[in-house]
Amino acid sequence: MSQQIGEFPERIDVFPLPDLVPAGYRPAAVLFIDVLRATTTVTAALAAGAEKVIPVMEPDQALQMKRLLEKSDPAKKGSLLLGGERKGVRIEGFDLGNSPADYTPERVAGKTILFSTTNGTRAILTFERNSGQNSERGEGELPRRGGPSLRQSAPPLPAAPRTRSFLGSFLSARALAGRLRAFPTLGIVCAGTDLHYTEEDILLAGLLVSRLLRPWETGGESRPRPLLNVQAETAKYLWESFLESVTPETLEKRLYEKLLASRGGENLRRIHLTEDIRDAARLDTLETVPEYTFGTIAPAAEPGSAPGKES
Ligand code: MLT
Repeated sequence: MSQQIGEFPERIDVFPLPDLVPAGYRPAAVLFIDVLRATTTVTAALAAGAEKVIPVMEPDQALQMKRLLEKSDPAKKGSLLLGGERKGVRIEGFDLGNSPADYTPERVAGKTILFSTTNGTRAILTFERNSGQNSERGEGELPRRGGPSLRQSAPPLPAAPRTRSFLGSFLSARALAGRLRAFPTLGIVCAGTDLHYTEEDILLAGLLVSRLLRPWETGGESRPRPLLNVQAETAKYLWESFLESVTPETLEKRLYEKLLASRGGENLRRIHLTEDIRDAARLDTLETVPEYTFGTIAPAAEPGSAPGKES
């Protein structure tokens, strides 16, 4: 299958949990979803003007990275913030938690956020490791070492197309669907909650599959209908059934109630963070599409341009 930009979806796979993604899976684009709350919060942070978000597996690593970055470049002091959660609450010593509302322009504009959450950041970093995609160097390049270049004596590794990686939220669903329709193969990876799949992520996956397939369902597309895996068909069905039960006026309220009743929602209710659920249910309110490239999340490049550059 080709992996050029400007095509149309030929295949869409939904994975309800990161562990269900097969090793070496390399679609043209992948979308990570953790509606409650990591990918919603990253979207809110970038929309509020944060320069970039760096996902970090463990809180200790984030603290260490901040110290090292500040030591190597003292001018960075004040421009680096630590954000994230464990057990839903702000990590000790961190500047910000995992609530979208924490990430106001006053707090984050122009800043770099070192960000660590229980499931969301883990899903992104695990996918990168398992897909065999190396974030440190370009495809086909040999590792750089001191001394003479190994490249002179060894044949280059075969170049593999890089998977473009995006982060999803209800906030930017319309912008995401617009962006994702240009990729022939798309994988949607739900972060889940504590190793269980969770309905809020599947619902957003279903909404996006439904929007991507709309041209075929309204008779406006004569090319073959994209192939969907069973989970993508199921997610689409779940979203469309939900949509049938609401009116345009009640949609956002009902979506909020749906998220409230989900596994992720239950965890947040327990720690009195229902306002975060309300914020995560604000459908189609932002145009920001976060893209993960070379270890960093920033607003996505325009389709067809080099990844990792602000449009
Ligand atoms: C996560 O990454 O595990 C979630 O965002 C958890 C949370 O919302 O606290």
